[in-house]
Amino acid sequence: MKKKTNIKSLAPKDENLLKIKKLFPEVFSDGQLDFSKLKNILAYQTEDTKESYKFEWSGKGDCFRSIQTPSLATLKYMEEESINDEKTENLIIEGDNLEIIKLLQASYKEKIKLIYVDPPYNTGKDFIYTDNFKSSLRHYLEITGQTQNGERISSTKSSSGRKHSNWLQMIYPRLALARNLLKKDGLMFISIDDHEISNLLQICDEIFGEENRLAIITVKSNARGSQASKFFSDEHEYLVCYAKDANEKIEIGYERSSKDFIHKDKDGNYFREIGLRQRGGEWRREQRPNMYYPIYINPKNGEVSSKKNNTYCEISLPIRPSSGEDGRWTWGKEKFEKDKGLLFGRKVNREGQEIWDVFRKDYSRDESGDLKKTKVKTIWDDKEINYQEGRKLLKNVFNGKDVFDFPKPPKLMEMIISSINLNNEIVLDLFAGSGTLGHVILEQNHKKSLDTKFILIQMPEKIDDKKISNKESIALLKELKKPPLISEILKERIKRVIGGYGESPIKLNAGFKVFKLAASNYRVVDEIEKTEESNNEELISLIRKRIQSSLIFDDSLTDNYKEINVVYENLIKEGLSLNSEIKKIQIEKNSLYEVSDDKGKNKLIYLCFEKLHKETINSMEFTNTGEDTILICFDIHLTDSDKANLSKTFKIKTM
Ligand SMILES: C[S@@+](CC[C@H](N)C(=O)[O-])C[C@H]1O[C@@H](n2cnc3c(N)ncnc32)[C@H](O)[C@@H]1O
Repeated sequence: MKKKTNIKSLAPKDENLLKIKKLFPEVFSDGQLDFSKLKNILAYQTEDTKESYKFEWSGKGDCFRSIQTPSLATLKYMEEESINDEKTENLIIEGDNLEIIKLLQASYKEKIKLIYVDPPYNTGKDFIYTDNFKSSLRHYLEITGQTQNGERISSTKSSSGRKHSNWLQMIYPRLALARNLLKKDGLMFISIDDHEISNLLQICDEIFGEENRLAIITVKSNARGSQASKFFSDEHEYLVCYAKDANEKIEIGYERSSKDFIHKDKDGNYFREIGLRQRGGEWRREQRPNMYYPIYINPKNGEVSSKKNNTYCEISLPIRPSSGEDGRWTWGKEKFEKDKGLLFGRKVNREGQEIWDVFRKDYSRDESGDLKKTKVKTIWDDKEINYQEGRKLLKNVFNGKDVFDFPKPPKLMEMIISSINLNNEIVLDLFAGSGTLGHVILEQNHKKSLDTKFILIQMPEKIDDKKISNKESIALLKELKKPPLISEILKERIKRVIGGYGESPIKLNAGFKVFKLAASNYRVVDEIEKTEESNNEELISLIRKRIQSSLIFDDSLTDNYKEINVVYENLIKEGLSLNSEIKKIQIEKNSLYEVSDDKGKNKLIYLCFEKLHKETINSMEFTNTGEDTILICFDIHLTDSDKANLSKTFKIKTM
């Protein structure tokens, strides 16, 4: 019949329990999971845990608690900061990424094709956000200076002895929860350097499974070599790639240039010629004697055979033209007989001599018609991949001003996104910084007529005014009358990219919506947050107050709530996209919010902040909706008979 609205984000624990229940309903008694029954059913033998291989650090247990603790926060839509919001699905979300990924669990689960993670590398100088899973939102508001006692936490000192533990504590829950958002064939790319590479691999192997580790790419990011290390001069960092599930059809690879495929067969399919003789490596006859054999060619049409007759009368042997030595083919005889339809012979001029040679047709598309790809290599040393290039592009956007310390090189972002087919897909940047990934996506969409959407998450981290290198960013934001926060640099950059920048500006047909992490609109959440660390007496008195207030007050929303914020909080927690369409509609004498998700008609929410009139309740327009439609309104605005009537059409939830 009637339920209260969800005030918590989707918790992975509840979902996992539901999955187990579906598979093995018999292991639940009284609604509780009976582990011993589950073990029996799986014929599970307890291993000697002392012997097993584990990766531990102090406080690891808190990571799991943090993963399981749902977010009680919400996201507030910032219409005035958004650009071309009515025609975009790009999102910039300001706030701590852990709380935000928790809030996105219901709406973006298995929807994201690519997640890019460029976390603080833990150099000792970078900002590491410390979570407090017991009262995470309050802690966040304090740290970002949004409460009176606001303080900023900065670099983790190695002397604390918890340098690696703190970093692991920060990154583990974020990666684990972000993985849930990946599509079945989704990929996560993580940038990292020597400081944490070994720890990162350990935890990613645990979170994703070692079999889903696709590559550890070495990126030559600093050809000049860094002088920071005492003994060696570092030129490189890493890019680690994990698949959600490597058994899925993962499309990764660079599209081969169509200009190489210039030949057309009789069915109109494009191919390129590849010589059948082995060129490099083990090319000598004695290394693979079975791969040296004559091939006979029909001179009229170039078809090939292993047997000589009147039709196949020209001979070709794998001879190395430069030295006349015997070489070998790349195919053995068996493969030759099976696939000789792909081979053809033609006359060529080698060292001034006309001879018959054999070639293989390499088609541009595979059997299913998809363009074949070149495998991505694991050393990326393109000369444009260096931090100077990242800085150069950013300076170009900001008229020569240096506004962010280490923006990623755009070429690096380009190489990641062009290795995957991202058209119409969603890409998430968990630590967006100055927004290089978003910038490159917008430009690639424009150049290649693609429609890749992004979600960029960035903490409103205060720009340190004690650092001289931050002078220009602080001055710029002051000029723009914006607070000195990294998230402001991000929004300003993306805005300028859309509006056009540099010497020959190009205006892009794009936009973005801005959301901010904020405290819930529900009073009860506010109280829970306040009491997390209170002592028992305070807690009991608050619960008493709460019981009394629920008898006195007619709703549980905070004072001064804004309707639109409540609408967003509900749609997020009901699992609708942040790009849902929200319309204010009038039915009879009532005005209501109608929410439909971007895919359309089925999942709708009606929200009404007024007392529903009889005419509305009885109107066809109101009741003629899909089965799963949710109606959210205040409890006291519905009589028992209204509830009985409406529950035939709607799932009723009360605020
Ligand atoms: C290495 S930088 C990313 C640089 C970015 N790739 C670029 O090209 O500009 C990491 C960023 O993550 C941000 N950050 C750190 N902790 C965060 C958190 N918990 N939530 C969101 N952002 C965070 C920092 O403010 C910093 O700007």
